[in-house]
Amino acid sequence: MGGFSLLGFQKTFQKTSQETSKEIEDTGVAHRVGVIGGDGIGPEVTAESLKVVRAAGVALDTVDYDLGGVRYLRTGEVLPDAVLDELRGLDAILLGAVGTPDVPPGVLERGLLLRMRFALDLYINLRPFRAGPSRYNDGVDMLVIRENTEGPYVGEGGVLRYGTANEVATQGSVNTRMGVERCIRYAFELTKQREKKHVTLVHKTNVLTFAGDLWQRTFNDVAADYSEVGTAYNHVDAACIYFVQDPGRYDVVVTDNLFGDILTDLGGAIAGGIGRAASANLNPARTGPSLFEPVHGSAPDIMGTGKADPRAAIISGALMCEFLGETEAAARIDKAVAGADDVQGTTSEIGNAIAERV
Ligand code: IPM
Ligand code: MN
Repeated sequence: MGGFSLLGFQKTFQKTSQETSKEIEDTGVAHRVGVIGGDGIGPEVTAESLKVVRAAGVALDTVDYDLGGVRYLRTGEVLPDAVLDELRGLDAILLGAVGTPDVPPGVLERGLLLRMRFALDLYINLRPFRAGPSRYNDGVDMLVIRENTEGPYVGEGGVLRYGTANEVATQGSVNTRMGVERCIRYAFELTKQREKKHVTLVHKTNVLTFAGDLWQRTFNDVAADYSEVGTAYNHVDAACIYFVQDPGRYDVVVTDNLFGDILTDLGGAIAGGIGRAASANLNPARTGPSLFEPVHGSAPDIMGTGKADPRAAIISGALMCEFLGETEAAARIDKAVAGADDVQGTTSEIGNAIAERV
């Protein structure tokens, strides 16, 4: 790979860091970042992430948004339209985690997280996983690109005869040629910038014959435009075995929304734990802000104890820097996280140790 890149962004999708720093010099304006600390350990880890990003010399103009389970329980509001409209004007959003035990499942997931993904057209959910050679033979350095606006997540379906012995529930997977193609094209564009230049489609084409066929044909069509990129296909169940037994085989993995959700928790587990799994919810067209968040949840059981590992949030901050064109800062944060690999301590001690090293 030429030069540092967590995301491996290519010019088509990213302003060069020169362009961005020039903008900052010219206008004296910092990146406008909306911070949704959320619930539980969320605010604790975003604070460390912001600390490290600032220590790397990136100027941020942050706006805090009080959203999540606590706000919902207090006011009944999840994501008011006016707040969503305000978010549209930002450069990026940094999110900690949302969820409190008293909020029923689905309220915050559908009403806040998925609503932002859909409304802001964050159609790529990019999750990097790395582990040193001590853990696996050749080490792991893979990127999972999860389609983030379609599949079974869209809320298609419904329920009939609710609560009766004859209850019927359906929940369809929605796959459009446009949605699948833009995701796969993004994966190929990114793959061609990487050293291994290899992308694996993961699906379940042997059973999901309609959706799988659309994904496979689109993958094949797009592959024809990228002769330099090697390709493979794995069924999702087999991919679970390879993730655990031989993750070094993967470079870039592209998959649908639900498979990607499940596979990336597995990716977190094999690559140093969920406390290090970061993610970028991207609007590559840059028609609005992209959103950066750790893969983990709000862990209310350890809230306030200082036990939360801020690394996933800090790496998410590095992904944000890279997407904002602050590639040097991103590289320094990434190196600092690696350099502080053995540091143990409280949330803020780990944050400080990383901030000192950037
Ligand atoms: C994730 C989470 C979300 C998802 C939930 C909280 C809606 O598990 O970001 O992986 O399923 O996408
Ligand atoms: Mn998940």
